[in-house]
Amino acid sequence: MKHITGSAPTKILIYVVGIAVAAGALVAYLYIAGPQGPRYSWLDVVFWVGLVAWSTRVAVALPFNAAMSHLFVIILGAIILFPPWLAMLIVAVGYFSSEFGKPTFPWYKDLFNRAQNTLVTGLAALVWHFLTEVAPVGLGRFDISAGVAIVAASFVLFISNITLVYYVIHLASGAPFRKIWVDNFRWLSLSYFVLAPIGLFMARAYQIPLVGGWGGFSVLFILMLLYYSRFYWDERVKLQEALDSTIEVLVKALDAKDPHTRLHSERVAAISKDLAKAAGLDESDQRKIEYGARIHDIGKVSIPDSILLKPGRLTEEEFNQIKLHPTDGIKLLQPAQRYMRDVLPIIRHHHERWDGRGYPDGLAGQETHLWARIVALGDAYEAMTAGRPYVKAKTPEEALREIMDLAGSQFDPKLAKLFHELWLQDPLWKDREVFLRASTSQAPSSDSSAPSSPAPAYRTSEELN
Ligand SMILES: [Fe+2]
Repeated sequence: MKHITGSAPTKILIYVVGIAVAAGALVAYLYIAGPQGPRYSWLDVVFWVGLVAWSTRVAVALPFNAAMSHLFVIILGAIILFPPWLAMLIVAVGYFSSEFGKPTFPWYKDLFNRAQNTLVTGLAALVWHFLTEVAPVGLGRFDISAGVAIVAASFVLFISNITLVYYVIHLASGAPFRKIWVDNFRWLSLSYFVLAPIGLFMARAYQIPLVGGWGGFSVLFILMLLYYSRFYWDERVKLQEALDSTIEVLVKALDAKDPHTRLHSERVAAISKDLAKAAGLDESDQRKIEYGARIHDIGKVSIPDSILLKPGRLTEEEFNQIKLHPTDGIKLLQPAQRYMRDVLPIIRHHHERWDGRGYPDGLAGQETHLWARIVALGDAYEAMTAGRPYVKAKTPEEALREIMDLAGSQFDPKLAKLFHELWLQDPLWKDREVFLRASTSQAPSSDSSAPSSPAPAYRTSEELN
């Protein structure tokens, strides 16, 4: 669950008080007129208040000064085990922000966090009771009410929680509400829905005492597992961040060696991402392709400056050394192989050709990974329109014509067709000058990915001239 920790002007106070009044009114209404089952003891109530208090202390930092904790799972458990009004009160009483009691944490923030969590608990509890008691859902002989209800309840809990919290963040920071909502919805939603069945499982475990005649032991055991899984997850995130910065250092090293590479790689990344999207790949794959395209030439850090930056034409021997950069890139990333597995084919195979005359492995057609074929096309188009000190840059029209001429020999013909369609839609990368102006980099790329003509096997990207 999320809560605010930022500062708040007067308009926020009105919002906060409004939510508190709504939460109070809902508790009162549900106490008088709402569903009263299931049965419970006061020991249960005390235990779950304790769980709420504990869960709000185990928080993980998130953007916009908000935080998520295991409170979500505890709330789901509480709405299954208690009548809605009592589940709300358990949250209202048990809620203690990890900032609570500090001088920088004024009363209205506590009131907001407490009131909004109480309110969303009531809404989710109503959904749970409606789908399990009023309108149970069946699939043939099977009663699937609990499964449907927990998913629906967690959906309501999640949506109402982030809406209330992001609105107050919008009021406090002036950040566009829709943007904060959409940005965070995407990546938060998955973790919340993964937690939903755990809430159900935990409530059921509490109802069936396995150890010592009390279900609380099972719940504590589940929470212990959850706690360590979150701890492990945090470590993974930190590791990924460390790896990303290491690769960023390598990219910068290559950039320092050859200042033209960065713009080239960024434009190749933009083209490849659009091409991946047009090829029907999902968002996660598109992101990986974009990332792989950014670092596709990373192996060039090991090429001597005298060759990499040579203003004139390369000798065959020099070109043979350039041709090592895909395999050098793989060697460079070897220690991080476990985390880079998905993008390695891009780095190794972005100079393969459809007709099998590329390098380093001479793969033909679909033997080359689709992601590498996508980046190869973006790489070639970018290099053609960039030109080199001794090769005039092609206009976007000329480069497109060349790509189409080489469809079926150098490039995957289906991808070339998609590229043509994309190009006609006038994306930013179509014209290098336009892309250049929109980008922070200024220099045109000297990375030689131009295919020039469908000639000898070695005439692909970094070609011999
Ligand atoms: Fe390359």
